[in-house]
Amino acid sequence: MRVLLTGGAGYIATHTAVEFLNAGHEVIIADNYVNSQPEAVRRVEEITGKSVRLYEADVCDHTAMEQVFRENEIDAVIHFAGLKAVGESVHKPLEYFRNNLDATLTLCETMRAHNVKRLVFSSSATVYGVPDEVPLREDMFCKGCTNPYGWTKYMIEKILDSLVAADPEWSVVLLRYFNPIGAHESGRIGENPNGIPNNLMPYITQVAVGKLDHLTVYGNDYNTHDGTGVRDYIHVVDLARGHLAACDFAMKNKGCEIINLGTGTGYSVLDIVNAFIRVNQIDIPYEIGPRRPGDIDTCYADPAKAEKLLGWKAEKTLEDMCRDSWNWQKQNPNGYEG
Ligand code: UFG
Repeated sequence: MRVLLTGGAGYIATHTAVEFLNAGHEVIIADNYVNSQPEAVRRVEEITGKSVRLYEADVCDHTAMEQVFRENEIDAVIHFAGLKAVGESVHKPLEYFRNNLDATLTLCETMRAHNVKRLVFSSSATVYGVPDEVPLREDMFCKGCTNPYGWTKYMIEKILDSLVAADPEWSVVLLRYFNPIGAHESGRIGENPNGIPNNLMPYITQVAVGKLDHLTVYGNDYNTHDGTGVRDYIHVVDLARGHLAACDFAMKNKGCEIINLGTGTGYSVLDIVNAFIRVNQIDIPYEIGPRRPGDIDTCYADPAKAEKLLGWKAEKTLEDMCRDSWNWQKQNPNGYEG
């Protein structure tokens, strides 16, 4: 199949591109590089020995998207493009709502005009808000998000669900990601955050490589086995393979499905730090700090629906995640900047 990846130069998208190319599919990428680099796509081509059709394009730009759809017979779209920094979204809500909603509306209008009606969307476990119970199931009521970024994901889910309700020819899969970490085993592609990382694993790897002095653990008084926050960390290559399975599903079915992509296992911050130290034999100095506003005790998936509907489940271990994250960072201390 011929698949368009919006925001295709980003962390999860590049790993997804590798899996699609290796499975024999054609990949087209549209990205405006607001938070990514063309070098990442070049490395996808290097890893797979296959070429990608690359457009420097903003998904909010109707004319640019029209050109992408006119020049390619696209079968399905995976919509990764979007602003994604939780903290930044609190300070720039208009930018987040404008960009993330506008990109989705423009994309869907262009898809409809070209009769392309198969879409996989990058949603997030953040839409569950503060959960009453874990594991999180797709049919649980979402009581509300804790930040504008989360609301954009929530609203886009509603937009796409309404689209399917109005036109049953559409097939949409809303993938709720848990916490992706790790990197391709080659160490050629990986997560490359702008500035000081917000997320745990890139922070740890930047401490390991000497760019940051120590990790601050945000609180050790949560209601968890060691007091630090528990999350469902999933290897980005497993996550990428989940997209392949979701796209196959979307090609064969109609309607709108919400599907968690997680492992079903929760690890605490200290579990992750200790596993990283043990697997990579490198020290990670850390201190315990105050809680980060908006953080919750525990979040992990019930991954049963993904297995039932998509025949997919996560296979990689915490050790794989720690080894591959470090392999990427140590080979690329400055990310794609060399
Ligand atoms: N943490 C630290 N120190 C750090 C960074 C993080 O202790 O320097 C802790 C957090 O308090 C939390 C855990 O590590 O307990 C994971 O934090 P992340 O920032 O890596 O991830 P979050 O679970 O907060 O958020 C992630 C994504 C969001 C997404 C959400 C879905 O960043 O985009 O998962 O649940 F919405």
